[in-house]
Amino acid sequence: MAIFRPSAFVIGLLVAIFALRLVSAISASALGARHVINLGDLRESYDFIIVGGGTAGLTIADRLTESSKYNVLVVEYGEFANASDSATLSSRMSAIVSKPQPELGNKTITINVGYCVGGSSAINGMAVMRGTKKDYAIWAELGNKGSTWDWDGMLPYFKKAIHFKPPDPTLAADFNITYDLANWGQYESTRVYASYPGGLNASLKTNYEALQTVPGIDFPKDGHSGRGGLFYYQVSVDPKTRQRSYARTGHWDNLNRTNYDIITGSRVTKILFSNNKVATAVQFVPAKSNGTAAHFIVKARKEIILSAGAIHTPQILQLSGIGPASLLKKAKIPVVVDLPGVGSNFQDHPIGPTALFSYGIQPPISPKNSTLPPSEGQGQGLVADLPLPIAAPDTYIQIARHLASQNPSQFLPPHTPGPVVAGYKAQQAIFAREMLSKELTFLHYIVPPVPAGTPINFHILSRGTVQVDPSSPDSPNPLIDYRALTNPIDVDLMIAYIQFLRIFYLSGPLARYNTTEISPGSNVTSYEQLARFVRTSYSPQGWHPIGTAAKMRRELGGVVDDELRVYGTKRLRVADASVMPTLIGGTTQLTAYAIGEKVADMIKGSW
Ligand SMILES: Cc1cc2nc3c(=O)[nH]c(=O)nc-3n(C[C@H](O)[C@H](O)[C@H](O)COP(=O)(O)OP(=O)(O)OC[C@H]3O[C@@H](n4cnc5c(N)ncnc54)[C@H](O)[C@@H]3O)c2cc1C
Ligand SMILES: *[C@@H]1O[C@H](CO)[C@@H](O)[C@H](O)[C@H]1NC(C)=O
Ligand SMILES: *[C@@H]1O[C@H](CO)[C@@H](O)[C@H](O)[C@H]1NC(C)=O
Ligand SMILES: *[C@@H]1O[C@H](CO)[C@@H](O)[C@H](O)[C@H]1NC(C)=O
Ligand SMILES: *[C@@H]1O[C@H](CO)[C@@H](O)[C@H](O)[C@H]1NC(C)=O
Ligand SMILES: *[C@@H]1O[C@H](CO)[C@@H](O)[C@H](O)[C@H]1NC(C)=O
Ligand SMILES: *[C@@H]1O[C@H](CO)[C@@H](O)[C@H](O)[C@H]1NC(C)=O
Ligand SMILES: *[C@@H]1O[C@H](CO)[C@@H](O)[C@H](O)[C@H]1NC(C)=O
Ligand SMILES: *[C@@H]1O[C@H](CO)[C@@H](O)[C@H](O)[C@H]1NC(C)=O
Ligand SMILES: *[C@@H]1O[C@H](CO)[C@@H](O)[C@H](O)[C@H]1NC(C)=O
Repeated sequence: MAIFRPSAFVIGLLVAIFALRLVSAISASALGARHVINLGDLRESYDFIIVGGGTAGLTIADRLTESSKYNVLVVEYGEFANASDSATLSSRMSAIVSKPQPELGNKTITINVGYCVGGSSAINGMAVMRGTKKDYAIWAELGNKGSTWDWDGMLPYFKKAIHFKPPDPTLAADFNITYDLANWGQYESTRVYASYPGGLNASLKTNYEALQTVPGIDFPKDGHSGRGGLFYYQVSVDPKTRQRSYARTGHWDNLNRTNYDIITGSRVTKILFSNNKVATAVQFVPAKSNGTAAHFIVKARKEIILSAGAIHTPQILQLSGIGPASLLKKAKIPVVVDLPGVGSNFQDHPIGPTALFSYGIQPPISPKNSTLPPSEGQGQGLVADLPLPIAAPDTYIQIARHLASQNPSQFLPPHTPGPVVAGYKAQQAIFAREMLSKELTFLHYIVPPVPAGTPINFHILSRGTVQVDPSSPDSPNPLIDYRALTNPIDVDLMIAYIQFLRIFYLSGPLARYNTTEISPGSNVTSYEQLARFVRTSYSPQGWHPIGTAAKMRRELGGVVDDELRVYGTKRLRVADASVMPTLIGGTTQLTAYAIGEKVADMIKGSW
């Protein structure tokens, strides 16, 4: 069995490259399990190979190696790095430039995902949130019969994924932070933490009290109860060290397992299949080289799990011959499975323009008794996550009707394959329905201690693509097109949110402070003027990329089934943010961890 077959020359080359990392690697390997520095130390084969040592990837690796029954190799593009050092942030983060966005005046977006052990959990904003119950009900609705990806099927994994530390009582009393332990697990085996570091600005209380008067607004006792409303959220900070708690600290550091290996600085370029489409091996090159460089192959005895994130997972699938046949032919990649959904259905939470107000009379600042020591993540956070009938009481019915009447293929690229159109049509119908309900949240308002709001849209209707460049498929990065605002309903939603903020600040209880509008300005009133305001400062990137290897039925353009197995293949799963078929009403890291926890149980159950 030819398993790992570098030539002597290539080993020499690689040892030279890999030796550069030796210094940092030694300390890391003393703490964690086995950090494979020299290629010669890789095993002949592994039970499981996980592509990408990020949020979901390390979760799966940790859970599969808890018993000595299996051994696991993680192949990670980045390195071990100090996630608390902001000076080196750019070295562990991508800066991929998107395609120009015509609806935004051809602006390009620089896309950031994490490139280090821990992946995006090592660079993210640390907010810890779930979606609503309805978000996961939609996942089940788009899935296969008997899908277990609804709220009840996710809850045990939300609980397992993060270890909750209740707030300091003085802090809780100060800001009315409430929680319900019934929503949380307190697993000792979980070392990724959610806590409240404090540092909240007392001026937040002014907005908190005013938001309580918004007609119909909900106040869940705990933001993780699956309902929207007004609540304080947690951050992924270790309550003891007061530093970032993330996939590396939770699922690698301080483990001492000979069955858990990681090789860093290695970019996977391909999954190899046997004739009957069984995934058998992973091919990789040194991180900084392109796909034509000398490559290495490691075999998997049981399964390969792709966890390279929503940008790189679809790229690796396409490079391996799994994707839309038309794209693969253009890129001269032999087709293994024609799976048109790979790289379609790309979504992120867009960030709208800031509506800014000014108080004519300063509101009194409430006293504050809590003073906690400094911490990463301090100062977060209060949110109001609102369903459309509350965020847009005057326009929600009209927006929902407009969506229901749309012809789906008009909002997708020309020649989009039938199943992808069918999937989009199904999602349009779901969102048109849920826009009328109070169970799905649309407006994400991160509440600042000042009179302002930068609305985030939890459920966009535009869909983008992530595809290898047909003229240069081996390039390290795929072509990324948000197709921002290609569905004009996304403009309508942002306008509705701006109007919500106007009403809230100018005619709600805060009007008593003689509030005036600074931006967009009281002269910006017509639909066209507001739409221009939205387009000039709309960011399609909210750092929550998802959907590019969606867990949906195959006839809807799905890429994986409800066991996260890639359709048409054997022994290959995807488990990361790319399987989320639709965005959730919350930030995505906890759901990415929960996907890892859930698939780990599925994998253990099948071997
Ligand atoms: C800047 C930023 C801020 C964010 N803020 C928040 C927040 O405040 N709260 C929140 O909940 N969520 C936040 N998120 C989102 C959240 O972090 C992600 O949804 C989640 O971490 C994604 O997990 P993943 O497992 O899908 O991918 P990742 O954690 O990104 O892991 C993918 C891994 O694969 C590796 N990889 C990629 N290509 C290859 C290859 N070819 N070969 C080998 N390895 C490869 C990468 O280096 C990476 O380590 C933020 C994200 C970013 C980028
Ligand atoms: C990581 O960086 C932070 C910020 O620069 C620093 O305080 C800390 O000591 C560093 N940790 C290590 C292990 O080097
Ligand atoms: C955007 O680019 C396209 C293609 O190059 C061009 O046709 C169009 O005029 C550009 N739009 C703007 C606003 O520059
Ligand atoms: C703050 O402390 C004072 C004095 O002990 C007390 O009267 C007040 O109720 C406290 N406020 C809060 C919000 O806990
Ligand atoms: C609280 O926020 C206000 C408004 O931004 C600011 O003026 C004030 O300095 C902040 N207070 C603290 C303690 O950070
Ligand atoms: C405190 O929070 C709870 C739960 O959100 C809410 O029901 C209650 O009204 C709040 N109390 C105050 C004084 O704001
Ligand atoms: C790791 O485990 C091995 C064997 O089980 C043991 O000899 C070694 O001391 C352990 N190392 C640490 C740092 O705990
Ligand atoms: C890829 O790398 C090889 C070997 O290092 C080099 O010869 C080739 O020009 C590179 N190709 C691209 C597109 O960068
Ligand atoms: C606030 O508005 C009221 C009513 O318009 C006005 O009478 C008052 O002078 C204003 N106060 C300040 C400080 O601007
Ligand atoms: C609104 O007024 C401001 C300030 O006078 C001006 O700069 C802006 O162009 C006006 N906007 C519109 C849409 O009229």
